[in-house]
Amino acid sequence: MVDQDSIPTRKWASGVTGSPGIAHSVLARDDETPANVADIYNQAGDDYASYADGDPSQLFAFGGMHAYADRHVWAVLETKLADLRASGKRSVRFLDAGCGPGTWLRRLILRARALGFSSITARGFDIAEAQIQRARLTAAASLSEVNVTFDVADLADRLPEPDASVDITLCLYSALSHLPVERLTDISGEIARVTSGHFITTVRSIGSTPTAFVESLENVRRLKHDHTNDRCEIDLSDGRHMAFGFHLFTADELRNHFARNFDIEDLRGLDLFHGRFMPDARWNPSQAAESQIADELDRLERAYATNTEFMDRATHLLLIARSRQVATSIENLDSNSAALDLAIDRTCPT
Ligand SMILES: C[S@@+](CC[C@H](N)C(=O)[O-])C[C@H]1O[C@@H](n2cnc3c(N)ncnc32)[C@H](O)[C@@H]1O
Repeated sequence: MVDQDSIPTRKWASGVTGSPGIAHSVLARDDETPANVADIYNQAGDDYASYADGDPSQLFAFGGMHAYADRHVWAVLETKLADLRASGKRSVRFLDAGCGPGTWLRRLILRARALGFSSITARGFDIAEAQIQRARLTAAASLSEVNVTFDVADLADRLPEPDASVDITLCLYSALSHLPVERLTDISGEIARVTSGHFITTVRSIGSTPTAFVESLENVRRLKHDHTNDRCEIDLSDGRHMAFGFHLFTADELRNHFARNFDIEDLRGLDLFHGRFMPDARWNPSQAAESQIADELDRLERAYATNTEFMDRATHLLLIARSRQVATSIENLDSNSAALDLAIDRTCPT
């Protein structure tokens, strides 16, 4: 059912009937405090990881519902990691803000290990305790010999990390959208304070197709997004009702929030042409022509990914921001003092 009647200017509304959702107790949340955003992801519990990431044992298969954007995000992260290793770094530190079940941090850690980093430190935090519990359990089972912690914490608070101590900071899949827009300048400043390398984020664009965040869209009975008040309301087919704050970004707006504190290396739209539905016969009935259509969609994506008007209609905006700070990790201090010793040796012959 589509709630068309109550749509003022710039409201999204959509709804599709379909297969029944996973049984949960009914959520009835009508305000937008962080606790209520946390409740939604707490209630989703372990189901969120399967919704967001597909099969948890196939970390690099990217075959799930969000595969298109996942593959792009991962290509960026892999390149940044490989660049760090190629620069001679042997230790690396990651931070994932709004980490959910910790899947992205696990991917980074496993690849860093494979690349030969000898010291890996990682912290993920999220406002939803159930997600953090899941992240801790999975990490305990699969990430031995790595200094990895997961905390319940709010993105709006000061980060415990020292200045310029994190090589790669993530804030993926709209964690930022749940925060009040007026807090984003401070949040950007705080992330910039701790990041010595890159900050990588994705948010939904202003013209993106509707999402139910923790549930597939086919389980949505009614969805209403009020852009004026940054408020999203969703009724699911199983009777659950969710109402919470959610902001959709224009590309310019996202850039401006972070350009104050970072150099913007890249900003692009992901999944402009809904290629993520490619394997779905309901969207693409002519499976015979699949590879030809896929190639053409790829070509179009590449051609328009950084075109402002198209970006604002992408499913996600991907921002890659480079720190203006100089790293202050022990390793860097060591190599700086080694360089200093060398310089002293050269300038002060005995
Ligand atoms: C769509 S999920 C993305 C999770 C994870 N980044 C990923 O890509 O799988 C958004 C996450 O942001 C978290 N979140 C929302 N508001 C937050 C806040 N103020 N502080 C920390 N985490 C927050 C939610 O609990 C949720 O786990």
